[in-house]
Amino acid sequence: MQENKKRFYPKGSANFFMASTPSVSPAFRIRTKNLVMLPFFKIFALMYLESLVLRHFKNHQQQELHFSKRINCLVGMNGVGKTNLLDAIHYCCIGKSAFNSLDTQNIQHGEQFFSLKASVRKQEEIFEIICALQQGKSKVLKCNQYEYTRLSEHFGLFPLVLICPDDTDLIREGSDYRRKFFDFTLAQMNATFLGYLYTYSNLLKSRNAHLKQANEAAQIDWALLDTYDAQMLPLARQIAKMRRDFCQEISKVFAENYAFLTEEREQTTLTYQSEALNTDFEQRYRAHLQQDIFLKRTDFGVHKDDFKFEIGGHSIKKFGSQGQQKSYIIALKLAQFKLLQKHLKVTPLLLLDDIFDKLDSIRTAKLLSLLSDDTFTQVFITDANPKRITELLRSVCLIDWAEIFELSQAENLSAQ
Ligand SMILES: Nc1ncnc2c1ncn2[C@@H]1O[C@H](COP(=O)(O)OP(=O)(O)OP(=O)(O)O)[C@@H](O)[C@H]1O
Ligand SMILES: [Mg+2]
Repeated sequence: MQENKKRFYPKGSANFFMASTPSVSPAFRIRTKNLVMLPFFKIFALMYLESLVLRHFKNHQQQELHFSKRINCLVGMNGVGKTNLLDAIHYCCIGKSAFNSLDTQNIQHGEQFFSLKASVRKQEEIFEIICALQQGKSKVLKCNQYEYTRLSEHFGLFPLVLICPDDTDLIREGSDYRRKFFDFTLAQMNATFLGYLYTYSNLLKSRNAHLKQANEAAQIDWALLDTYDAQMLPLARQIAKMRRDFCQEISKVFAENYAFLTEEREQTTLTYQSEALNTDFEQRYRAHLQQDIFLKRTDFGVHKDDFKFEIGGHSIKKFGSQGQQKSYIIALKLAQFKLLQKHLKVTPLLLLDDIFDKLDSIRTAKLLSLLSDDTFTQVFITDANPKRITELLRSVCLIDWAEIFELSQAENLSAQ
């Protein structure tokens, strides 16, 4: 097994990661490569994370890790930083934390910066991704020396799917969680959708700002509202159509996954609900204006859409067991994986955080059987119980493909 090397940087060495010379955007090169250079018989580009260097990231003072191309298990007691390592991978591939939207909270307590450096191999090319943040400055995200000006430039280049305990928020929380999940997945695969969503959100912000500052109807600038609405209405219809088509596509894969995981014992559905798909949408949107003025915000439109999750014809939130909810989420995330793979022509990394809790033996075995075929390339699994994970991997003959990283405390990480 490979040994984890540790490197020590002098204090205040954030510049080590930050110094750079701008060059060509990697986006163009990667996408061109996928289209042109992939052998025709190979459908998906092979991608895996070779190494990761962390500095002052949450509870990780400094680490340098070299990963297996297949299965990587991060094991150790509660609170040692297993999920934080997955989050560091998420940061490098997606450009932000999966758990904490406030970047500064990911800097280690008492420190001035965090920096992450990931080395990702895609086919025969290596990409060096750097993500760093210094207190009081803007976050820096670079790929092969190219510094992004917008986070969205990085979207879809290094796809990953993370399945974690917080995912049940998708079922339990409000519609904004579900919209974010579906929009983010679709935006990674479809730049037109991302553009529509971005423009719509900016118009919505401006419309809301105007409604907020006007204390009474007499202060409303009707011409300005008309300008916003004339742009927002067609965008809303486009967004709703794209979400509907995407939901139809993902729901088929989701249903197959759920049936596979549960041996077809339960009937589940996933449907998209949007007023913007109805013929009277524009009329109802305009009729809502008086209420918008009263509420001082736009309370009708695609930013209020929802996705309905059901089991046996009933809301999974209200009637699903914890295990059923977890299976629903796993089936959904695996569907996300398959669609990202299909549309981006690259196999995403799969990050499984504490996934085996609450799954019965059939569902666990089913999930493991997926790991042992060639559906996934590189997988990261965290578990507080090293014995359980090694036995599970042994049971599907995957133990020889796995690298076990044992974390005793953030600084004492060893590969076995
Ligand atoms: N900004 C920060 N600076 C220092 N430590 C932090 C920071 N943010 C989080 N932590 C610490 O990280 C630890 C949690 O790490 P993490 O969630 O990765 O643990 P884990 O190994 O996944 O545990 P579990 O098995 O319970 O899921 C906590 O001790 C928390 O205090
Ligand atoms: Mg954890």
